[in-house]
Amino acid sequence: MADAAERAATLREQLREHNYRYYTLDAPSIDDAEYDALLRELEALEAEHPELQVPDSPTQRVGAAPATQFDSVRHPSAMLSLANCFDDGELVDFDRRVRDTLDVAAVTYTAEPKLDGAAANLTYRDGRFERGATRGDGREGEDITANLRTIRNLPLRLRGDAHPALLEIRGEVVIPRKRFEQLNQRLTQAGDKPFVNPRNAAAGSLRQLDPKVTDQRPLYLYVYGVGVCEGGALPDSQYALLQQLREWGLPIAEQVSRIEGVSGCRDYYQAMLERRQRLSFEIDGCVYKVDDARQREELGFVARAPRWAIAHKFPAERAETTLESVEFQVGRTGALTPVARLSPVFVGGVTVSNATLHNMDEIRRKDVRIGDRVVVRRAGDVIPEVVEVVADKRDRNTQPIELPAQCPVCGAAVERPEGEAVARCTGGLVCSAQRIEALKHFVSRRAMDLDGLGAKLIEQLVAEDLLRGPVDIYRLEAHREALIEREGLGEQSVANLLHSIDASRETTLGRFIFALGIRDIGETMAGDLAAHFATLERIQAVARDYAALLDTATAEADPEASAAARDKPLAGHELRQMPSVGPRLAQSLARFFADAGNRDVIDGLIAAGVHWPAETATTRGEQPLAGKTFVLTGTLADFTRDQAAEQITAAGGRVTSSVSKKTDYLVAGAEAGSKLAKAERLGVPVLDQAGLESLLRQA
Ligand code: IVH
Repeated sequence: MADAAERAATLREQLREHNYRYYTLDAPSIDDAEYDALLRELEALEAEHPELQVPDSPTQRVGAAPATQFDSVRHPSAMLSLANCFDDGELVDFDRRVRDTLDVAAVTYTAEPKLDGAAANLTYRDGRFERGATRGDGREGEDITANLRTIRNLPLRLRGDAHPALLEIRGEVVIPRKRFEQLNQRLTQAGDKPFVNPRNAAAGSLRQLDPKVTDQRPLYLYVYGVGVCEGGALPDSQYALLQQLREWGLPIAEQVSRIEGVSGCRDYYQAMLERRQRLSFEIDGCVYKVDDARQREELGFVARAPRWAIAHKFPAERAETTLESVEFQVGRTGALTPVARLSPVFVGGVTVSNATLHNMDEIRRKDVRIGDRVVVRRAGDVIPEVVEVVADKRDRNTQPIELPAQCPVCGAAVERPEGEAVARCTGGLVCSAQRIEALKHFVSRRAMDLDGLGAKLIEQLVAEDLLRGPVDIYRLEAHREALIEREGLGEQSVANLLHSIDASRETTLGRFIFALGIRDIGETMAGDLAAHFATLERIQAVARDYAALLDTATAEADPEASAAARDKPLAGHELRQMPSVGPRLAQSLARFFADAGNRDVIDGLIAAGVHWPAETATTRGEQPLAGKTFVLTGTLADFTRDQAAEQITAAGGRVTSSVSKKTDYLVAGAEAGSKLAKAERLGVPVLDQAGLESLLRQA
């Protein structure tokens, strides 16, 4: 018994320390399986000896029964809000007020990201998490202790031993972007309503009556301040305070920085604005806090906000506007994308007048109609999107959005296979929109890498019927004079264009396959196919064989049979023996190579002189980086990411986009973000530019 008690205490201590290393320091020293083993051992021990269960044991995060309502609790001290500023002038005013009041020439601030989540107030008594509450009206909030306990990076017990008797901690609960997307997918699949943004999702998750539901939500806590502190002393600067909180095991945003004066604030703001999209969680600005505790005391408060801090807000990424009309754009594979034409609106620093509505399912789900007031979001470089309708502003005269029966470009029938969200034009390469997109893809940098044939020129040449498909590119030579006569193209640029066209004839099998624009076949998959099958002839033969089998299987299939049963005769096929080729991909390949028109294009290109070095399955196997998977992140000093990827692929390696246990190397440049953290957590070796170069040199 004494042994069991001792072992339980040791396990708890170890688990706490591992939690701290994992969540607070982002530097775990054991892997997930080892952690789970320790946790299971403790669970078993506590099950056997229930008297050993203590409320702050790492096993006791999700214990409480569902509540019927939340109790109201008074905060030990009021939760204040922050004054905002939106431009440089207001920031300068703030700093001047601070300097004038303190009568100093310059002020040191601590700058922090302004996390966009739900505020939480945590009370620790003698180092133990006692109670947690929502902000409420600032004086009283709701008791959400049971829900907060489920947050894995919230310490139930503080590290070390010299803790204040009473410590009130202020923080923000957030859901990282990636996890937010996954959560919404899960909700949608289960037939539940998805959340509009991570902030609503975090707030909604904290207000679940059943802690088991909250436990399923990917919540993270970041703390940024202290309210009441009794029976203990705290450091006398904000920056040192945050370091102390981290020592105690409380998670602090890693972007915290100590800065000097207004110019320091400006630099920090600029840096955060640039990093914003790469941060794992959403932020809506920066917060500058006078660093020195005595200076803060001197500054005091106005109304409900301190005079010693200000939030410098980013331009809104969302704005409300009117949906004027909807047009359908036709993509490379014929997919019709509904595009909203909007009354121009200023969002995230630019004026937006078009936004994507994704597809018809999304339109139905969001219940969007023409004439609606809608919320538009623009985040970083991604295409702006219509997020939701402002339901209570709906007018009587709004019109439904209909999927056209005919392609708006070529007039061919529009088809929407059952169960698919995407509607497609059936015109194939007869459709000039598909031709244009296919040509743009064909010449793009990662495909045939053909300079000088820009989108505008492609559109014009397609309109003039000089370009009907990729083969025509290699016949442009014959139209040299006509090209030179064109507006905007002189003799020199035509010469350059023809030179690039000629140079593009020499390529690789992977690039060629990618350039063909086969549905679902991205750059990596194209490279994998080239490496696996070595020759185009082989790929074509295998794909056509699969197509024949697919036809028979479809003809003979029992419509009652499950998808798995129907797939069974196909699953053993050679094409499916490649690790990443599933039924959908195999079908795309089969359909593509079975099509006579596509075969003509391939033959035409080869006849026009497009060629690649012979690639044999074995040469890849013998290549130095064969079988090695790389992920690239951050900015390298002397390479673009594409150049690095190209060299890795040339040496037989494979470049993928996300870090997992299977990743062999992460190549991290400057400003690497969450991928680096994940790689370190998973123990994936990390290379800097020099490391990559040395590996490539050896290769
Ligand atoms: S300090 C007295 N720091 O922004 C100072 N607040 O109006 C009180 N917030 O909902 C707040 N990140 O939860 C502070 N680094 C940060 C913050 C932050 C987010 C939230 C806070 C509150 C609002 C302040």
